[in-house]
Formats: sequence, C-alpha cells, structure tokens
Amino acid sequence: MNQITPPSKLEIIPQTAPFSDAQRSWLNGFFAGLLNESATPLSAEQGAAVMQGATGDGDDGEAPWHDQTLPIGERMKLAEGRPLRRRMMAAMAQQDCGQCGYNCHDYSDAIASKSEARLNLCVPGGKETARMLKALHEELDKAPAASSPSPAVVPAVAVSTVIAEPGRSRDNPIAATFLSRRLLNKKGSEKETWHIDFDLSGCGLDYVVGDSFGIFAKNDLGLVDQIIALLGASHTTEVRGKTLREVLVEDVSLSPAPDTLFELLSFLTGGAQREKARALAQGEDPDGDAATLDVMAVLQKFSNVRPHPEAFVEALEPLQPRLYSISSSHNATPGKLSLTVDCVRYVVGKRKRLGLASTFLAERINPGDEVKVYVQKAHGFALPQDPKTPIIMIGPGTGVAPFRAFLLDRRATGAPGKNWLFFGHQRSESDFFYSDELNAMKTSGLLTRLSLAWSRDGAKKFYVQDRMREVGREVWTWLADGANVYICGDAKRMAKDVERALVDIVAQFGARSTDEAISFVGELKKKGRFQQDVY
Ligand SMILES: Cc1cc2nc3c(=O)[nH]c(=O)nc-3n(C[C@H](O)[C@H](O)[C@H](O)COP(=O)(O)OP(=O)(O)OC[C@H]3O[C@@H](n4cnc5c(N)ncnc54)[C@H](O)[C@@H]3O)c2cc1C
Ligand SMILES: NC(=O)c1ccc[n+]([C@@H]2O[C@H](COP(=O)([O-])OP(=O)(O)OC[C@H]3O[C@@H](n4cnc5c(N)ncnc54)[C@H](OP(=O)(O)O)[C@@H]3O)[C@@H](O)[C@H]2O)c1
Repeated sequence: MNQITPPSKLEIIPQTAPFSDAQRSWLNGFFAGLLNESATPLSAEQGAAVMQGATGDGDDGEAPWHDQTLPIGERMKLAEGRPLRRRMMAAMAQQDCGQCGYNCHDYSDAIASKSEARLNLCVPGGKETARMLKALHEELDKAPAASSPSPAVVPAVAVSTVIAEPGRSRDNPIAATFLSRRLLNKKGSEKETWHIDFDLSGCGLDYVVGDSFGIFAKNDLGLVDQIIALLGASHTTEVRGKTLREVLVEDVSLSPAPDTLFELLSFLTGGAQREKARALAQGEDPDGDAATLDVMAVLQKFSNVRPHPEAFVEALEPLQPRLYSISSSHNATPGKLSLTVDCVRYVVGKRKRLGLASTFLAERINPGDEVKVYVQKAHGFALPQDPKTPIIMIGPGTGVAPFRAFLLDRRATGAPGKNWLFFGHQRSESDFFYSDELNAMKTSGLLTRLSLAWSRDGAKKFYVQDRMREVGREVWTWLADGANVYICGDAKRMAKDVERALVDIVAQFGARSTDEAISFVGELKKKGRFQQDVY
C-alpha cells in the first residue's frame, strides 16, 4: 500500500517576523485560506512580499512621499496618478510611528481594502490627514476594482486588529500599575520632563528594547467640568450607559475639536454662526483661530448653542492612546518599565492647555493606580543582532529614552559591542537627564563615548549634529568598522538635520561626493544599519 505523506504545513510568515507562535500559526492559516491551498506554497521571502503588499495593481512600490518633513500638499503631488491606496499612504504623516497600530503603508492598504473603517487614527497627521483620507475614501466606492488592493494585502490588518493578545495592541490593552514619577530637570530649566515607572508584574507583559508603550490617558476633570457647565448639563446625565462626566473623562478626545462637532453646531444654529460652523467643518479658517480650537474653545465660540449631551458626545472623536519610547530593559529589570516623558503645557489666550497623556502621567495619576496600556512592537528599531556590533546613538531631549534602554540591556546581557551616545538638551546645569547613570556607564566603560551638546549654554545654538561634525573623523571610523546608527526624538527638524550631518561626515571623511555619501547613508538604511524612532 502506498504511504500517504501528509501535506507539509504552509509556512508563509518567516520565523523572524515579530509574532508569537500562536500569532504565526494563525497568520499562516489565514494566508493559506486566502492563497488557494492547491497553489505552490510560498517561500518565506514570498510571504514577506505579500505582507509588504505586493498587489498587482501596477504600482511600482516606490514611495517618494515617505518623508515626514514634507507638507501634505507636496506628498499628495508626489502620489498623483498612483492607485488610491498609495495616495492614501501619502496622506499620512509618514512617521511610521505606530500610533495607529500599523505603519503608514499597512494603514493605507487596510483602509483601501475596507478592512479598516477608522480614518482618524493618524495622530501626527491630525485633521488634515483625516480630511484627505475622507475625500479619498469617497473615491473608493467609485473606483474600478484594479485600484483597490488584492485581498493579499488584507492580512496586514489582521495582524493589528484581529490578533490581539492582551497588552499587545491598542485594540486590546491591559492594566499596568503606575509606580512613581521623578522630575529629570533641575531648578532653572524651561522643561518639565519626567522619569516614569510602571510595574508590569501583575499583568505579565514583557517587551524588548526599542519597543514603545501605549498609554490610554484620562482627560483633566477640571476641563471636563467646565465643558459640562458650558453645555448647561448635569455631570450625572446618562450617556452611553455612563455618566456624562465619566464619558468625557475616559472616552472622548477634547482636543482638537473635530469637524463633526462643527457640523453638529451648524445644524443647531443659524445665520452667520451657521456659515462659520460650516466653514470650519470644511477645514476653512474664517476667524484665523481654527488651529487653537479645542472642544471647550468651540463651546465658548458658539456660546449661544447648547447641544444635547448625547448628540455632543456622538460628535466627538474617541480618545486615542499615546506612545512613549520605553527607557528601561526587561532583561535588566524584569517586570518593570520606564518612560521619559516631556510634559506638554502651553497657553492660548488666557487659558492653560494641557497635553493629554503627558500631564496625565505628570500629575493626574497616583502610585498604585492602574492604567490601560499596551506594548507597541518596534518596526525596525532594535539593537543589532550581533552583540559585538558597535552602536552610535543620537538622542537629544526625550530622544535619549530608548538609548538608556539599549545601554541597560547591553549591560544586562554582557554585550561586548562599543557604545557611543550623543545627547543634547537646553542647558547642562538643568537638563542633563540621567547624568549620574550615564557618567557611571562612562566610567565603567559600558559607554565608550558620551558626547554632549547644550543648545542654550552659549550665545549661539549648539546641537548634537554640531558635536557630531566636530568628531566626524571618529564617527566615520566607527561607521567603517560596521557601527549601526540610531536617531530618536523630534521628527520634523532634528532627525533630518542629524541625517544631513551624517551625510556630510561620510562625504568629508569617507572621501565621497555628496551624492555618493547620500547613497551610502541610503544603503545603511536599507541594511538596517541606520534606524530611527522619531515623533
Ligand atoms: C513612537 C513614539 C515614541 C514617542 N516617545 C516619546 C517619549 O519617549 N517621550 C515623550 O515625551 N514623547 C514621546 N512621544 C510623543 C508622545 O506620544 C506624545 O505625542 C506627547 O507626549 C504629547 O502627547 P500629549 O497627549 O501629552 O499631548 P496632546 O494632547 O497630544 O497635545 C499635543 C498637541 O498640542 C499642541 N501643542 C503642543 N505644544 C503647543 C504649543 N506650544 N502651542 C500650540 N499648540 C501646541 C500640538 O498640536 C500638539 O500636537 C512619542 C511618540 C511616538 C509616536
Ligand atoms: N513642534 C515643535 O516645534 C517642537 C519643537 C521641539 C520639540 N517638539 C516636540 O516636543 C517633544 C519633546 O521634546 P524634547 O523634550 O524631547 O526635546 P526638544 O524640545 O526636542 O529639545 C531637545 C534638544 O534638541 C534641540 N533642538 C532643537 N532643534 C534641533 C534641531 N533641529 N536639531 C538638533 N537639536 C535640536 C533643542 O534645542 P533648542 O530648544 O534650544 O532649540 C534641545 O536642546 C517631542 O515630541 C518633540 O517632537 C516639538
């Protein structure tokens, strides 16, 4: 009798992909269903290509708009004539920051394949991205099939929204315990940056260095009560099965004011006020104050209108989590997780405005309190696999967070690779975060080099990239010896300026033309030797 060989298991998701065994197995099954069982099994590489969205819609896969410093108008121009899903990607803020639960590419593919209905998840893109996505989304139903991605793209969505182990995605957070906070700035600083500790032992969550931590914060009660007063409502009014106060504290975003709130107000008022509300809902700026309008400012601006609490709440957006780079190492301190959080506070007119999550961590939560959290896996931001590989880390301000984690991890695991940190901030006296720790790491030899740049100590600004240029020859030597380069912190200006300095250093000390230096740095990126975590 012939022996029947069982069909070999279809392995589409590479072993190295960042999924648990259960997730990998589920995904393999999911792909198998999609990809016709009788077809030749895909190799790991082919599987990865599917994950990246090889779609057969004629697009070449290039993304010239993928630059977080380009304004949306320019990005959309660069995407002209491309399939809808690619134009949707161009509408996003291009930071691949992970706040939406995807990277930009996967989020756009998910919307275009109609497996993601939420168009307002791009935090750095804000309202202009949401508006552009709404406009593009209207094209979806009219679009011929060819401009939609093939079903093979869909699994990117499944990764984020269907499979959600508790604490592993924004869609399925878990409770962690807040332990403590400690101010990192000293007297005389213009900044307020906190070292924050969480206890993960209760929830059992772990992470690797490079990952970020998602926090579901709560709104300020004082702000909520002022809004309730402006509505002329009682805070105990029942909405969505909770009190109005609870819903406003826990469930909805109070900044910025969404277009749907302006739409609601336009229905409830008349004359010039209606025109104004309509214009604001269309993204126009009739009074030149649109950028400053949070929910409370809108109620003050349209003070003659008092929407019903239920309609009001329905017009608001859900409260979004915020991500923070993890600044501790699970290998060094299992069960504990730290963050390095710059507090956002500013004044508009006479009113103090509070950044939601940063002030929540700085003042609205007490030791022992539980917070809804999740670990956001890093996309391509990690220590080198080979522990001997030297690393150059450039992280001014809160950008130091993941590098503290890298250093603690390398110490805990005994990684022999050399470590060089460029840190900078406003003033050496007051803004040298973790100075004791970093100096001790230098003394112990863990930190091979520590290069500092203080922007406000002297008469002229001096930034990390200025320090890098000063020691460019050594930077080049490290690169030539195989070092990985990492940047973390401000996306809009710092990251670009540091990259430019790196190109200049490669050109000058690596004896290359500027074009050759640009492609050298481009190659570093392609090989995963130049990684960024910017926001
Ligand atoms: C992957 C990733 C990692 C991150 N890591 C860190 C980290 O390690 N540490 C850290 O501190 N942050 C980090 N962030 C940023 C963090 O997620 C939040 O965006 C930040 O803390 C602000 O959030 P918030 O809720 O406090 O403020 P929000 O309520 O979101 O308010 C911020 C908004 O307020 C407005 N605003 C701020 N300042 C002013 C001003 N002066 N005038 C007018 N408007 C203003 C802007 O519109 C701004 O977008 C990271 C972000 C990402 C995506
Ligand atoms: N929207 C903005 O304009 C803006 C500006 C700064 C920060 N942020 C955001 O605020 C958050 C926290 O910031 P943070 O506390 O980490 O620090 P930060 O405010 O970004 O500042 C850290 C250090 O970087 C310097 N810096 C400013 N511009 C730079 C550049 N182009 N290249 C290199 N260094 C530069 C700062 O100098 P000086 O401040 O003395 O110039 C300071 O010494 C981040 O989310 C960041 O993106 C936004």
